[in-house]
Amino acid sequence: MEEKKKYARTLVTTALPYANGPVHIGHLAGVYVPADIYVRYLRLKGEDVIMIGGSDEHGVPITIKAQKEGVTPQDIVDRYHKIIKDSMEGLGISFDIYGRTTSETHRKTASEFFKTLYDKGEFIEKTSMQFYDEEADQWLADRYITGTCPHCGNEGAYGDQCEVCGTSLNATDLINPKSAITGNVPVLKETKHWYMPLDKWEPRLRQWILEEHKEWKTNVYGQCKSWLDAGLQPRAVTRDLDWGIPVPIEGAEGKVLYVWFDAPIGYISNTIDLLPEDWEKYWKDPDSRIIHFIGKDNIVFHCLIFPAMLMAEGSYQIPDNVPANEFLNLEDDKISTSRNWAVWLHEYLEDFPGKQDVLRYVLTANAPETKDNNFTWKDFQDRNNNELVAILGNFVNRAIVLTNKYFDGVIPEAHELTDYDRATIEEFKGVKDELGKALDTFHFRAALAEAMKLARIGNKYLADTEPWKLAKTDMARVETIMNIALQITANLAIAFEPFLPFSAEKLRKMINLESADWNKLGSIDILSAGDRVEKPVLLFEKIDDETIKVQTDRLERIKQENILKNFTPKAVAPTVSFDDFQKLDIRVGKVLTCEKVKKADKLLKFTIDDGMKGRTIVSGIAKFYNPEDLVGKEVCFIANFAPRTLKGIESQGMILSAEDADGRLVVIGPHGEVRPGVQVG
Ligand code: MF3
Ligand code: ZN
Repeated sequence: MEEKKKYARTLVTTALPYANGPVHIGHLAGVYVPADIYVRYLRLKGEDVIMIGGSDEHGVPITIKAQKEGVTPQDIVDRYHKIIKDSMEGLGISFDIYGRTTSETHRKTASEFFKTLYDKGEFIEKTSMQFYDEEADQWLADRYITGTCPHCGNEGAYGDQCEVCGTSLNATDLINPKSAITGNVPVLKETKHWYMPLDKWEPRLRQWILEEHKEWKTNVYGQCKSWLDAGLQPRAVTRDLDWGIPVPIEGAEGKVLYVWFDAPIGYISNTIDLLPEDWEKYWKDPDSRIIHFIGKDNIVFHCLIFPAMLMAEGSYQIPDNVPANEFLNLEDDKISTSRNWAVWLHEYLEDFPGKQDVLRYVLTANAPETKDNNFTWKDFQDRNNNELVAILGNFVNRAIVLTNKYFDGVIPEAHELTDYDRATIEEFKGVKDELGKALDTFHFRAALAEAMKLARIGNKYLADTEPWKLAKTDMARVETIMNIALQITANLAIAFEPFLPFSAEKLRKMINLESADWNKLGSIDILSAGDRVEKPVLLFEKIDDETIKVQTDRLERIKQENILKNFTPKAVAPTVSFDDFQKLDIRVGKVLTCEKVKKADKLLKFTIDDGMKGRTIVSGIAKFYNPEDLVGKEVCFIANFAPRTLKGIESQGMILSAEDADGRLVVIGPHGEVRPGVQVG
């Protein structure tokens, strides 16, 4: 195999989240947690690395959100930038800088970047027809146009995509296009824009990715290959919009840079703000390498468009790797900001104070590295209770408790080792290589499993050697065992630092290990006999069913709300005549008794005062009512409904109820007092 290229420093970027909402577990699992693990790992190895992040504050989604709320786009991005920045910090995502694309540095950097390409003749100018809202006196971005999808007939399709059938569209494809601002029919007008001729860069992109980066993740390589094989087209990099960075050339008044042109330049401007003197080293020195952490929907921008921009500019390096992840689902449903179907980071931090590492652990263990994956609260609870508490926490706690108990907190000396001791030590010797290999190749799940293996080895070692049984007879042996157990503990403090930084720090404090040094991983002389450990503190605690239920109940509520929100009444049934209507004998009755029908979870048995001799009716509404709550209530029923036998009971009529959008049945009755037996009509 080819010798791995050496590098002097690493620039890690993380996709800039749109500041039109908070970040959720999907963002975290896909981008920020793996990037943070990677950067912490490089730092532990003593490498020169910087981690760049920030909010993406331009683009149409932000103007739409602002319009909906009747505030300015700046209000929106100010609000969410703060929430995102604070919550990322809360989770220990260790950005060296978390900037924003509305900063002055960014405006200047992006503007100059565009100007450089323009002056070099790297753009082509094209005019095209674009929708315009004459009443609002405004160009309409694709998102601002709705109409009927030509593929599936959905009447609420957007100008860039139909969310019902998933087809991506051009606004001009829509049948009956309407402006989302005024509802008017938009007109087509000619407009001029600047395009990146991606076709020109295709041969270089092809060579660079398909030939020189066969080591990229298969999902990334595959997506790039299919784009390249389909042939690249020129892409507009400007828009008719009033929110964004003005196009810095004459004759471009009222136009801004396309958000996907300015946002990746945000990586550069944030590096400039972090290192005003030194930033170029990270971007332009061939000894540096650039790694972009992103989600799969960003692949084309980071592997084709941004690199083409960098190539066109000429003085920058192009990325070394783009380890994009797939998507994380929530309880088997696609995460969606607009449907509020998400676990929001800022809410998690409030609901689970001090449990940052639990989320980091679960998201890494379930990382959607090669395929979409699923987050469930049950799995969250299980992994906490059965892995973090029962394995990692348990081992560490035992090691520290026993050291305090037998040696008053002083680390004992190791004497002669047994074969079993040697076999154990042998087992975790290889962990540094294995862990390193997995992290170097962005296999974070495998890396975490490897770190966890260390804790399992420790647990097994104490369970097998049972020092608590030897304490009365062979204290020298106990000393050896506890020394080894504490060395394993020290190994854990290093191995878990990238994954669980909060717990690793607590652990380091417990064993008085000043700093974690990756190079010591796998050795058994990290701690010195005679040094002290502190009193034990719990690293993890069990999460009970109640706590989980609060979360699943919340999701259930959101699901119901979404169903109700999306309710549209059914089409009206064919017309009936008055005579037909009169065939139904609908009456008011009073509920005398109501009880559950045995062995039928849906059925309630009613006896009804119908003003005559009374009657029995069985109705399928048991899921929605307590029987006793209905006693004494007035209901409407069909009196001439053909009798049916249900579970051995003859039902003499039908009680009327309305079915809500979520399937809930609500019994219908009169709104004023009437005598049982009167007719409804
Ligand atoms: N805001 C984009 C998204 O959420 C990501 C932008 S990444 C960057 O999909 F390249 F612009 F930085
Ligand atoms: Zn459609």
